[in-house]
Amino acid sequence: ADPSPSGVMEDTGIEGEVGRAGWAEPGGEASRVAVSSPVGTDVVSFHGPRQAGIDTPAQTHAVFLALDLKPETDRDRIEALLRLLTDDAARLTQGRATLADTEPELAAAPARLTVTFAFGPELVARVAPERAPEWLGPLPAFEQIDALEDRWSHGDLLLQICGDDRISVAHARRMLGKVARPFAEVRWVQEGFRAARGAHPTGTTMRNLFGQVDGTANPQAESPALERIVWGAGPEAAAAGISPWIADGTSLVIRRIDMLMDTWDELDRSAKEKVIGRRLGSGAPLTGEHENDAPDFSAVAPTGLPVIPDISHLRRARMDTPEYGMLRRGYNYDDGAGASGTGAGLIFAAFQADVDRQFVPVQTRLAASDHLNIWTRPVGSAVFAVPPGCAEGGFVGEALFA
Ligand code: HEM
Repeated sequence: ADPSPSGVMEDTGIEGEVGRAGWAEPGGEASRVAVSSPVGTDVVSFHGPRQAGIDTPAQTHAVFLALDLKPETDRDRIEALLRLLTDDAARLTQGRATLADTEPELAAAPARLTVTFAFGPELVARVAPERAPEWLGPLPAFEQIDALEDRWSHGDLLLQICGDDRISVAHARRMLGKVARPFAEVRWVQEGFRAARGAHPTGTTMRNLFGQVDGTANPQAESPALERIVWGAGPEAAAAGISPWIADGTSLVIRRIDMLMDTWDELDRSAKEKVIGRRLGSGAPLTGEHENDAPDFSAVAPTGLPVIPDISHLRRARMDTPEYGMLRRGYNYDDGAGASGTGAGLIFAAFQADVDRQFVPVQTRLAASDHLNIWTRPVGSAVFAVPPGCAEGGFVGEALFA
């Protein structure tokens, strides 16, 4: 039997901590790892009609692992791979070691670990070409801004591994990578972070490395807007002509965007705020006081110019049609690989039911006229189809094999 956080808990006498007597070690000795509650013991359900890690409140760490299928990995072998990955992901996310786990102790504190599977064009083409959504393929070129590098782009199978503890994320990546090795090769890995869990009150919108409050306009959790935008579900989506490529599935666009810190630093605070159209401190629109105040694009300053500039990111990214939109669930990176030498940027990750209808129009408008483009440079780009979740005993992606 596999130990689970709820299964084997013992009182260690330390308040707020639970001890877990775990799995039998190869030596026969029961291992014991103390795990703090709730941060370490917190689990996100793996099984269900929809995959976790999408509308799950974003965890602190993310590793995006993109794999390319080997030429001999055919439909049957893809099924075998997905079954193995599903089984291991189901265990790890619930704080249980995998069957072949070499470091089972590293699985003890899942800390809201999630593993989200997403499929690139090649995987869908090998399994069920007739099911491939029209938008599944490289984005149109955005020549004004793109500086794309192959080493950050595309991929056949993406595993988005998120969690509040970098150790269990690293462990999951290693275990899942090991399982995948006979079937696929690593194409790229991107690592990102947000503020530590508990550093700010729950529900605080994240900040990117420009210091901006980033994510304000996202659809609220469990709202009709989120149902429509991410899952293409509900009468509102139908009325807007949005439907998902597969029920309870969605899409994921990842853009790796370098942020050019050195030139950004040449701006003063008020100039920086005009580039976005929001205040750095509160995240409020320049026409408001609070983060969630509605922007007033018609407000004019004494100079006669709009208070929120027409070329501000807020103005250019704002949809005129509320039925469109996206859920941005990005992560910061700071790893020395950036073009400006500072290595800082954003792994922009957006979920939406339909890439062509929801993402592409916004990116097209931003590429043409967003003031922020001067200080940002997209170096990677990938589009994936996100399959539904699965029930216990099933595997992620099974609907494609039906
Ligand atoms: C809004 C930053 C790239 C789409 C915002 C906001 C910030 C921000 C600070 C305002 C607060 C909020 O609502 O989140 C950035 C940075 C980027 C970047 C630093 C690059 C490094 C992109 C890209 C897209 C995008 C590539 C899509 C193609 C949006 C949308 C909004 C937004 C849709 C909400 C607009 C609204 O208020 O309706 N971004 N962004 N952003 N951004 Fe970006």
